[in-house]
Amino acid sequence: MSDKTFVAELKARADIYDIVSESVKLKKSGANWLGLCPFHSEKTPSFTVNPAKQIFHCFGCGAGGDVISFVIKHENMTFIEALKLLAGRYGMEIPDHDPQKAERRDHLLQLISEAENFFRKYLRDDLAAARYLEKRGLDEATVSAFSIGSAPDEWRTLLNALSAKKYKVELMIQAGLVTKGKHSSFYDTFRGRLIFPIKNIYGKTIAFGGRAIKDDQVPKYLNSPETQLYSKSEVLYGLDVARDAIKSEGFAFVTEGYLDAISCHQFGFTNTVATLGTALTPGHCRLLKRFTEKVILVFDGDSAGRKAARKALRLLFAAGLDPKVLILPNGLDPDGYLRSRGAEDFRTLFLQAEPMVDFLISGAIRHGEGVEGLTSATEALSIIAEIPNAITRGATLKSLSERLGINEIFLMEELDKIMKASYRRNIKKTVKVEPSSSGKLLPGKRTEKITEVEKLLIATALEDDRRIKRCLESVTEEYFENEQMRDIFVKLKRFMASGRPWSPDEFILELPEGACRSVFTQLMVQRLFDEEDADKVFEESLAGIRERITLTSHKGLIRQISELDQEAMNLFLEEQRRLKARRNPGR
Ligand code: UTP
Ligand code: MN
Repeated sequence: MSDKTFVAELKARADIYDIVSESVKLKKSGANWLGLCPFHSEKTPSFTVNPAKQIFHCFGCGAGGDVISFVIKHENMTFIEALKLLAGRYGMEIPDHDPQKAERRDHLLQLISEAENFFRKYLRDDLAAARYLEKRGLDEATVSAFSIGSAPDEWRTLLNALSAKKYKVELMIQAGLVTKGKHSSFYDTFRGRLIFPIKNIYGKTIAFGGRAIKDDQVPKYLNSPETQLYSKSEVLYGLDVARDAIKSEGFAFVTEGYLDAISCHQFGFTNTVATLGTALTPGHCRLLKRFTEKVILVFDGDSAGRKAARKALRLLFAAGLDPKVLILPNGLDPDGYLRSRGAEDFRTLFLQAEPMVDFLISGAIRHGEGVEGLTSATEALSIIAEIPNAITRGATLKSLSERLGINEIFLMEELDKIMKASYRRNIKKTVKVEPSSSGKLLPGKRTEKITEVEKLLIATALEDDRRIKRCLESVTEEYFENEQMRDIFVKLKRFMASGRPWSPDEFILELPEGACRSVFTQLMVQRLFDEEDADKVFEESLAGIRERITLTSHKGLIRQISELDQEAMNLFLEEQRRLKARRNPGR
């Protein structure tokens, strides 16, 4: 892998929300997350993270960039050090950069694969596990498809087996397979448990979950710790076997547990994955989005399940996915439901899976009416406000109106308030740009303020390479009064001239830290226009900026005319007419 594709791949895997939220408490605000800036001291949050664009920007101090520049700035690291840290987190090998770490990763993978073989082999002679599998109704095909195994109910069997293969105890501890006890004794972490290997999307085992077999065994599930290979917020259980079915079915079921996902597969619903002991994360959403847009959450019908579904819905919507909710009756989980009612009932049920609005409102109705209902309508609206696609937003609003029997106009009024509030929060602080150090002067007016028309033109252009090209063809840098906008424009021109496909992710790497990058990241996190209006806004801004330069030269002309002789004056009057005609064609 070349360094360039490596950085691109790393950026595709690393999630800026995850990385930032490790050190900054973030709160959702529209399409963004807001928190207190780690780079300057402030009391009200102006540090903004946009997960969709994978960019951060602080409206207070102007710091901005991508996930890599965040790590560089936050950890005080070099570019290479930041790459190493992120690559380690997301289980990637840096080409040639850190042979030691790459080696350790290989060793871990090998060790885990050995352990998996051990567990699978052990299951063949494990009567207790076999009885348990039978009790849970898991057949041989399922056991094999999910590489299920079991761990002996002894203290050091795995440890000894792996030691015999020359693996170091230290590595076993790192992998979470062995635990260090008191008096420097070591013992197997997984004992007397059914073992579910956890795999990455390529089918490589990176961790394990162990389910208790005996009733009094705690905890019910014991899971591998997070390692260089495994981060639970980045892994969906079963995705390696489900990915093809998700594509062909056109949607994914998301459940909450190992056995729920496995049961769904055994009953023929092979497009099922599970989150493992964690709420759905933006990382999970991104994984899903690689294979489908449509997601059906199949959560328990209890209040914890409903609550989890609400939280997951927000994330799924914000990620631009199209979620529905299937709440199972009688407090059953998917496994329990399938076993007691069968695949056909499940199919009937999921065909009626509730769209988000119905789910929220029926929740309100079930909880009683009055205040609960109203809270829920407001909650529904706050979720609707986050739907990036205006058409989906409109359709969802309409069904909310139908369900509630409240005229759409009133709902729209509230929705508008919610959306405006989040927009205001984002733009309240005006850009503070540092004066340029380049000192190179371009003709035309210069200003530190960025006018709306420049902002909108560049912001809309940045979303679409056809618009960038049109912008580059239609105006020159002289059209921009703000210096940073000029810089961005010039850099855009250079980027596009290099013949590379447009990628904001790569473009940002070419903007030096400082005012120019700050303006860029600010444009990326602000919600300045609706996606659907982008073309219109772009064309209007393009026309606007051209009219402005015409006006500016027009005013300049008038000023100069007063100082001129008759002949020159005629010439300028002619020019003035020409400019006017250009401004108001057809008059
Ligand atoms: P559940 O308690 O719903 O278990 O936890 P389950 O999946 O239905 O399993 P069975 O049917 O009782 O065997 C849901 C998920 O939460 C995580 C596991 O990933 C589990 O699948 N979990 C649960 C843990 O990590 N540790 C626990 O102690 C319990
Ligand atoms: Mn269960």
